[in-house]
Amino acid sequence: MQKYKALRGTTDILPDEAGRWQALESVCRRLFALYGYGEIRTPVIEPAALFKRGIGETTDIVEKQMFEFSDRGGRAVCLRPEATAAVIRAYLEHSLDKKENFTKLFYIGPMFRSERPQAGRSRQFHQIGVEAIGSDSPYLDAETISLLAQILKDAGLKGFKIKLNSLGCAKDKIAYSKTLKAKLKTKVNLLCGDCKKRYEKNVLRILDCKKEPCRQAVRGLPKISSSICGDCAEHFDKVKAALKIFKTDFVIEPYLVRGLDYYTRTAFEVTHSQLGAQDALAAGGRYDNLVADFGGPDMGAVGFAIGIERTLNALKTMSHRVGGTMSHLRGGTYVVTGTGVPKEASVGLLNALRLEGISAEMDYQDRSLKAQMRQASKLGVKFALILGEDELARGEVGVKNMETGEQRAVALGGVAEWLKNS
Ligand code: HAM
Repeated sequence: MQKYKALRGTTDILPDEAGRWQALESVCRRLFALYGYGEIRTPVIEPAALFKRGIGETTDIVEKQMFEFSDRGGRAVCLRPEATAAVIRAYLEHSLDKKENFTKLFYIGPMFRSERPQAGRSRQFHQIGVEAIGSDSPYLDAETISLLAQILKDAGLKGFKIKLNSLGCAKDKIAYSKTLKAKLKTKVNLLCGDCKKRYEKNVLRILDCKKEPCRQAVRGLPKISSSICGDCAEHFDKVKAALKIFKTDFVIEPYLVRGLDYYTRTAFEVTHSQLGAQDALAAGGRYDNLVADFGGPDMGAVGFAIGIERTLNALKTMSHRVGGTMSHLRGGTYVVTGTGVPKEASVGLLNALRLEGISAEMDYQDRSLKAQMRQASKLGVKFALILGEDELARGEVGVKNMETGEQRAVALGGVAEWLKNS
């Protein structure tokens, strides 16, 4: 019986799988550089109040899903359920708004939500996200969405759908909430338990409920677009037009509201049909009041977060493996120690190769020559470097090309150079 297991809803990422993570991350890092984003790394533990204020007291995340506890000094802290509020906290704490009035930041890391674990939903999951802070421009919304689409395309994903809506400004959201309350008044009894509470505290969230009675109640309700003001409607028109220039396809989802309260105006979600019930692999939107809410200047911002696990799952269902499983030594070398040869000779060669930037491995298990050759082949190295007694006496090493089977003797002192040129 094994003593310890990973906690429910958390997963170990093993080296085989980690190659796919790195491949997705490197697609992102390349595009982030192209789009002018700098990296930010914030703590995974933050004051709980930050998210209560940022995401909203009556959202599911804050009400049900935060890993919240008191630290030894009795302060209410939590594991971050998302990063947008944390990034804005850091942005203001380090006065980045005073250094530049427009800042683009990206992050990669774990997030924590205490949800019931199921396919596509874990308690520790990982996001790659961006936040562009300091602009109201609808062209920035379009750029952000098209960056997201480009990442998914470059990762090799096909068949994803970008769902787009505008929630309007804070005033529009209040007006729309009032309309919804009036329209749902006679249907409250039909709603699920959660939505009955939402009706009182956060009526917009009812639009997001997946339960059938609630979906039925929502059908035929006025769309958010019917409540948004002229400025917000114009902003949304520009976003849509600019997305066409960016050649980014989207569909309008008139009831899309998102589960976090900070959104204003543009909101979007990317779904993939192969993902089942938890079909959103990335999501984001504009949040024009969060910076000011946290005590900063009045400035707009927009961003998104990609769920890494869901994105890699979607890629898997298309039998496309971004990066593929890879041995770290693929294309590298394996130093084979011959019978009677001191291990010190192999260690010396191994080190010399690595100092020259050539990946190298050797046997640490006293395997036979034959077993070492088998290991070299299993690891997929390009060359086995055979240090036999005779070779060593001549100051040479036997270089076997594992693809062609060809073998030749190369002077020990010149082997790194030889490998670089071959
Ligand atoms: P979110 O929609 O809560 O938005 O999360 C974004 C993505 O994270 C989801 O689309 C999903 O792929 C993934 N995700 C969320 N919860 C889980 C979970 N329990 N298990 C696995 N994956 C999950 C945000 O977090 C916002 N901060 C996005 C944003 C950035 N908006 C503006 N800037």
